[in-house]
Amino acid sequence: MIAFDYREGRLHAEDVCLVRLSDEVGTPFYCYSASALEHRARLLLDAVGSSSTGIAYAVKANSNLAVIELLGRLGLGADVVSEGEIRRALAAGVPADRIVFSGVGKTVDELGFAISAGIHQINIETAIELDRIGEIAAAQSREIHVVFRINPDVAAGGHEKISTGRKTDKFGLAVDEAQALFRKATALDHVVPIGFAVHIGSQIKDVSAFAAANDRLITLTEAMRAEGHEVSRLDLGGGLGVAYHEDEQELPLSEYARLLDDVARRSGAQLMIEPGRWLVAGAGVLVTRVNAIKQAGDRRFAIVDAAMNDLIRPTLYDAHHPVWPVNRSDDALEPTTVAGPVCESGDILAVDAQLPLLQAGDLVTIGHAGAYGAVMSSGYNGRLLVPELLVRGDAFTVVRRRPSYDEAMALDSLPNWSSDADAA
Ligand code: LLP
Repeated sequence: MIAFDYREGRLHAEDVCLVRLSDEVGTPFYCYSASALEHRARLLLDAVGSSSTGIAYAVKANSNLAVIELLGRLGLGADVVSEGEIRRALAAGVPADRIVFSGVGKTVDELGFAISAGIHQINIETAIELDRIGEIAAAQSREIHVVFRINPDVAAGGHEKISTGRKTDKFGLAVDEAQALFRKATALDHVVPIGFAVHIGSQIKDVSAFAAANDRLITLTEAMRAEGHEVSRLDLGGGLGVAYHEDEQELPLSEYARLLDDVARRSGAQLMIEPGRWLVAGAGVLVTRVNAIKQAGDRRFAIVDAAMNDLIRPTLYDAHHPVWPVNRSDDALEPTTVAGPVCESGDILAVDAQLPLLQAGDLVTIGHAGAYGAVMSSGYNGRLLVPELLVRGDAFTVVRRRPSYDEAMALDSLPNWSSDADAA
């Protein structure tokens, strides 16, 4: 399914022309395709069907309520990492018993909130977390299912900063510590240890990295069962990569599904995965307008009205995102570096993108921006968070509006003593 395509020379999101959206909403903005989101979710649901794997969408990839709701309606749960994400998942209608709470540093307040909400599972990553969960669950007289996230010491992931499964990464527990905590948890009244979890990184396209991590989980499961413990659930994490370059291939879903079938068969456990990026990356674009063209030495710059604060992936991870002009042109292509107005040399959205000769006022689109785009944005340089739009067929909805400058400043306040100091 192609969500973003040219019709009569103009780029559309489903049946809506991006020129029209730019005129109505103003640039920059994120635009998501509902059909593309549904399409990806259905592909994944079909692929994991044979292993009866549960899917908890990693909300961190795109936590707009409309996106969570759409995926939740299709039966996906939510993998969350903060109270804010739990609240978002609940507000979007995801039932509490489909919410999985991951993360290396959950606070006591967050754990209390999660347990009182009756969520499905907490993935434990530190020894103190188990103690806290035990106390909170007892105080609330509620039962909570927990799994222990192991660090499998497997290097994977598209970039140093998104690799999480190596021994010296901050994530997960050493296998022997996870075993010790599991045993300890069996003695707690309100805590039910049911299994183990792993998540080795993001933007992974190497099936052998997943397989290596899964093997560690299976070995561990067998060891715990040999001790007489019941291990009924394995959470295999997220990380499934996407193709950002035009000539790049995704890991075929059939291969990933085969891997899940294999783990299901060997472990007999109920499986769960936590995909984020794979579901949403390709379903979103960032639309921006060229503000100025300038030449710096032999480099041609298009200075656009979106910036690193709106999409930080290129500068933070040297990530590649394709740039598509909204108006197709037959002009010869010129290497053009697309940069924002933020006062940092790193404020670059694409280096030497092959583009027709752009002019001030032209619209361009940054592709594959549905994951880790809007969620990672900030108000740096006094810039407003950009709106998010959801398109379905020929209709669109603003699913997050642009704040006013007053709203952006509303949480700040001036200390009373500044005027006292002036007076003194
Ligand atoms: N589960 C856990 C425990 C995670 O930490 C993550 C991502 C996921 C699932 C989802 O991974 P995914 O399927 O989306 O790869 N901001 C970075 C990506 C950071 C991923 C962090 N954890 C980026 O823009 O590339």
